Amino acid sequence: MRRAKISVIGAGNVGATCAHWAAAKELGDVVLVDIPDKEGVAKGKALDLVCCGPMEGFDVDITGTSDYADAAGSDVVIVTAGLPRKPGMSRDDLIETNVKIVRSVSEKIAEHCPESIVILVSNPLDAMVYTAWKATGFPTNRIVGQAGCLDVARYRAFIAMKLGCSIEDISALLLGGHGDDMVPLPRFTSVHGIPVSQLLPDSDIVECVERAKVGGGEVVKLMGTSAFYAPASGSVQMAEAIIKDKKRILPCAAFCEKEYGIDGYFVGVPCILGANGVEQVVEIDLDAGEKALMDESVSHVKDLVRIVTEMFPDLA
Ligand code: NAI
Ligand code: 2OP
Repeated sequence: MRRAKISVIGAGNVGATCAHWAAAKELGDVVLVDIPDKEGVAKGKALDLVCCGPMEGFDVDITGTSDYADAAGSDVVIVTAGLPRKPGMSRDDLIETNVKIVRSVSEKIAEHCPESIVILVSNPLDAMVYTAWKATGFPTNRIVGQAGCLDVARYRAFIAMKLGCSIEDISALLLGGHGDDMVPLPRFTSVHGIPVSQLLPDSDIVECVERAKVGGGEVVKLMGTSAFYAPASGSVQMAEAIIKDKKRILPCAAFCEKEYGIDGYFVGVPCILGANGVEQVVEIDLDAGEKALMDESVSHVKDLVRIVTEMFPDLA
């Protein structure tokens, strides 16, 4: 049986950790791609990971390269190429540099991996998903952004910490862009089926919501660079759903044509992820307060796309 192939573009913190999770889960062969100046880093990290196989019991090929020809035939490509945030920076401060990087990477993906499903991770995420869509020319079901898996995992972790219960039992939903105005939804948060509102006072829930919204910044302040374990875990969760055709419902930046009243933007929404990428955007009824928060987050996503198209009119 043919093994799946996952290419990860960018062999930095998030990219190498994606390779690590993907190999540990034996999702398929992994190719780690970076720029020619960093080819040694890509090759070195790949070799280091290969040497974990005998101890960890995974048996996949892991290759480091700067040659996109090595990525040919990839089923899934995870794009982590680009600058990360430094303390004091917002994700949006990265836009000009990272659009140029993601655009050039996307053109190479279109050339070498024309059948792949592309998971964007580089920031500002909502602008990068749009850029990759335009630069690859891929259908919208094969372009998807990682943000919601990470953001909702942070929210779930904070709820579990408040309750002192297992993270495994927290189920939650989150909508919107990957900015500090993302929308965790307490009304759709439960603990093994029990609505969280029956277990925690409102003030504690609000605290978890607010902490999740700035969860990325909290890590940046502590480390001086952005998070990578959980972002990579979210990306590989999505890759796994696609490669194993699991039809999981996960919060992803997916193209909404009319869903949630959004007219042609990639926004964080629950969607079914399977072998065809984004197979369906799942619409839920929002109350007036939730809708107002979603609209505000969507307007920020639209602002980001407008900045991209003003800077690079040919991406409009
Ligand atoms: P990093 O600096 O550790 O790694 C980035 C890598 O991209 C470097 O190895 C660099 O050489 C490579 N790169 C740059 N230009 C390239 C090109 N043209 N082709 C191939 N590789 C190229 O950064 P880190 O921490 O891995 O973050 C990567 C990106 O992911 C950042 O933009 C960061 O903001 C974003 N991020 C997004 C998250 C999300 O949830 N969507 C969460 C965490 C980070
Ligand atoms: C995060 O949320 C910086 O987007 C990155 O950790």
